[in-house]
Amino acid sequence: MKIISDIQELRDQLRGQNRASFVPTMGNLHEGHLSLMRIARQHGDPVIASIFVNRLQFGPNEDFDSYPRTLDADIEKLEKEGVYVLFAPTEKVLYPQPQEYRVDPPSELGDILEGEFRPGFFKGVCTVVLKLFSCVQPKVAVFGKKDYQQLMIVRQMVQQFALPVEIIAGETIRAEDGLALSSRNMYLSKEERLEAPYLQKILQEMRERVLNLSNQELNQNALLKIEEQALSQIQARGWQPDYLSIRKQSNLLPLGNQDLGKKPKMLILAAAKLGQTRLIDNLEIELEDTKS
Ligand code: PAF
Repeated sequence: MKIISDIQELRDQLRGQNRASFVPTMGNLHEGHLSLMRIARQHGDPVIASIFVNRLQFGPNEDFDSYPRTLDADIEKLEKEGVYVLFAPTEKVLYPQPQEYRVDPPSELGDILEGEFRPGFFKGVCTVVLKLFSCVQPKVAVFGKKDYQQLMIVRQMVQQFALPVEIIAGETIRAEDGLALSSRNMYLSKEERLEAPYLQKILQEMRERVLNLSNQELNQNALLKIEEQALSQIQARGWQPDYLSIRKQSNLLPLGNQDLGKKPKMLILAAAKLGQTRLIDNLEIELEDTKS
């Protein structure tokens, strides 16, 4: 595997490659990332990964400085996955001057859920992803469904700017007890690690409650009640939830009674702090199986 930190060197190395498949990451790689590398391999060749901890997407009180940086271990893992090039630029390379041009996603999608609790997060993500796409020029790029809103926003950015990149979604990879793999799981204490799978568990309970509603019972109020009940359940166990929210899968907006009549695909999204660690997760719901 070639490890490249310079943009021109990357372009020289990739010249003539028009089927490259790309996985952008911030490093501290786990099985979730590696599964994205394998998906990338199925959709293009060669596979390019990037590692860059992007300051622009961190808020002033977030963990930019302490974000785990484990380059040597990451390199070993990527080599085993047969990655062709690792692009690992420094901040000086990617942002030689202050990055004053930014990509600002539309408020309806960029300022809700994660965007509400992490102002500027998606602006930072879109800006770096556009820049990384410009450096790597991939045909395909793979993003994980654990960051569902990020995946949707990147997809829309690609569509709106007519970027010649196909975005592929990778399923969330979980530990045996159901906890979604995340670089931030390493912040959890032993006790918190035992409690952490509850986030996925409460999403499954919410899904069950939605699926148990009859057609007559399925309305906006019933969904709000399910959300409120779940919020109090998780708070009672010591979590500090930002949101536990049932949304339309197509645009992540709340569902009105009219939407519900059409039995749309739904998604439950959650973000909650356990101690000092903020975890996110989500779960898709297909309404086909609801009671009639
Ligand atoms: O999901 C991530 O790891 C980051 O948000 C990404 C897409 C690499 C951009 O910095």
